[in-house]
Amino acid sequence: MGVRTDEVRKKYLDFFKVSPRNHTEITPAPLVLPEDPTTLFTSSGMQPLVPYLMGEPHPSGKRLVNSQPSLRVQDIEEVGDNRHTTYFEMLGNWSLGDYFKEEQLAWFLEFLTGELSFSKEKLWVSVFEGDKSVPKDTESVEIWKKLGIPDERIFYYDVGKNWWSRSGIPDKMPVGEIGGPDSEVFYDFGEELRLHEKSKWARQKCHPNCDCGRFLEIGNSVFIQYRKEEDGSLKELPQKNVDFGGGLERLTAVTMDTPDIFKIDVFANIISEVEENTGKSYEGNEVEMRVIADHLRACRALIEAGVIPSNKMQGYVLRRLIRRSAVKMRSLKGGLEKKDLNLGFGSGVEMVIEEEVERFGKSLERGVREIEKAKVVDGRKAFDLYQSYGFPWELTVEIAEERGQKIDRKEFEREFGVHQDKSRSSSVGMFKGGLADKGEETVRLHTATHLLHAALRKVLGGHVSQKGSNITAERLRFDFSHGEKLSDDEIKKIEDLVNEQIDKDLEVTSEVMRLEEAKKSGALAFFGERYDEKVKVYTIGSFSREVCGGPHVARLSELGGHVRIVKQESAGAGVRRIYAHILP
Ligand code: SER
Repeated sequence: MGVRTDEVRKKYLDFFKVSPRNHTEITPAPLVLPEDPTTLFTSSGMQPLVPYLMGEPHPSGKRLVNSQPSLRVQDIEEVGDNRHTTYFEMLGNWSLGDYFKEEQLAWFLEFLTGELSFSKEKLWVSVFEGDKSVPKDTESVEIWKKLGIPDERIFYYDVGKNWWSRSGIPDKMPVGEIGGPDSEVFYDFGEELRLHEKSKWARQKCHPNCDCGRFLEIGNSVFIQYRKEEDGSLKELPQKNVDFGGGLERLTAVTMDTPDIFKIDVFANIISEVEENTGKSYEGNEVEMRVIADHLRACRALIEAGVIPSNKMQGYVLRRLIRRSAVKMRSLKGGLEKKDLNLGFGSGVEMVIEEEVERFGKSLERGVREIEKAKVVDGRKAFDLYQSYGFPWELTVEIAEERGQKIDRKEFEREFGVHQDKSRSSSVGMFKGGLADKGEETVRLHTATHLLHAALRKVLGGHVSQKGSNITAERLRFDFSHGEKLSDDEIKKIEDLVNEQIDKDLEVTSEVMRLEEAKKSGALAFFGERYDEKVKVYTIGSFSREVCGGPHVARLSELGGHVRIVKQESAGAGVRRIYAHILP
């Protein structure tokens, strides 16, 4: 298993270990870093090396090499084309303030053309075009030219493409983050591929970063040279580093002269099991089989790293990967049995997968039927499916789009913003600057409760009055007098009314007055509570006026999102209970 991939990995490691390169091979980091609470997964080889790139001496010296198993959940929706995966091995070599551009670019080219016998004519490169604080990388251009890459195969791009840091472009880098300009190498599979495979690209000008499939990015040399400062500027680090990352699977595909990385051994093994299991062939079913092959390979790595399916953190990612694979398998087979995802991974791994498939299988059929029945699969429907059947949001999109059903993606994304942010953050630091502390969140939900109270009365009628309220950092719960279940239409009206006020960014003010006076002025009061003679009245524009101790936000924009009612139930005779969140 994995013969050719093993060979490419070994060639790379050996090439950088021998003289004159003299790198020391270091052990790759675990996929789940036990002592890093800010990141879900290791997503690049440099991640465990940050302190050394910043100047701390590394025990193994200044020249390091390895192959790092990595997982990038943010690419999950790209999987299905010829080149994207969530899980991959990243070949990496580093100079910690030792060699720089001249050696790095020459060595990588020598590795490609010498060790892997790629033809130099097929290689195109990109370099950084410069921005307000970092100059254009003409140095790399000169080096590439000297190495025999002509002008017409050298492209300049901006920060979006040729700048690398764990958090992306310089503006997104938090204080203390390191990064720098980079130079990427692409393999050209030829004009024919572009015209033939995706005709929509045929009339557009093609370039290495175009997505037509003609070019495959195979390696990236980052010149980590800057650190983000408190004042927002980029400061030169005390040392100039090289951080190279190359996709092992992609490089292996090029050695086989195929732009489809799923043809390489590590995927072909899984795909042939899928073919056997389903009686279908890869040709014609590429998308489904690629998703299954990538996701299950990732699942194996996660389970071997000790992750088990759950609703949180790494466990939730594993759950999504298994469930997404299950849906694809179901669509290939026209049904799903609990052993269908057992594809030769060994009993320990298969047991975990099988249990999850079984758990999911029960609700899968019902969920799929719900999607088929729905006229429009909107954010609310997706949320229901998530809550009732454990459908990860992007799974609903998958299923619905395959059936050509209309999707309001915007609403979808708003609704699931929280989940998305959590998975995306796997590479950019999980909760950095993200979540407010409990106190702030509670204050926001408290203000949202006032808005809901007013909106409920406007939509359902003046008989509505507060019977109870409970707020945690995650949600609000509100009980009110009302005999019937709220219809979908009523819920939508209530939400829309509340969110309209939020969009108006109304001001929230307060004044102290006597209780009698407050009532006379139209302020709602929760009569289950005993009041002092003097009370505080909170007013939100002309929309809501309520006796309350506070505290509240000063303006509705501080709520940071829209209010969404996520659940309703009965809370006794004549009393309804609703639960709501604020979704960013
Ligand atoms: N850190 C860079 C990347 O992940 C190069 O290794 O692309």
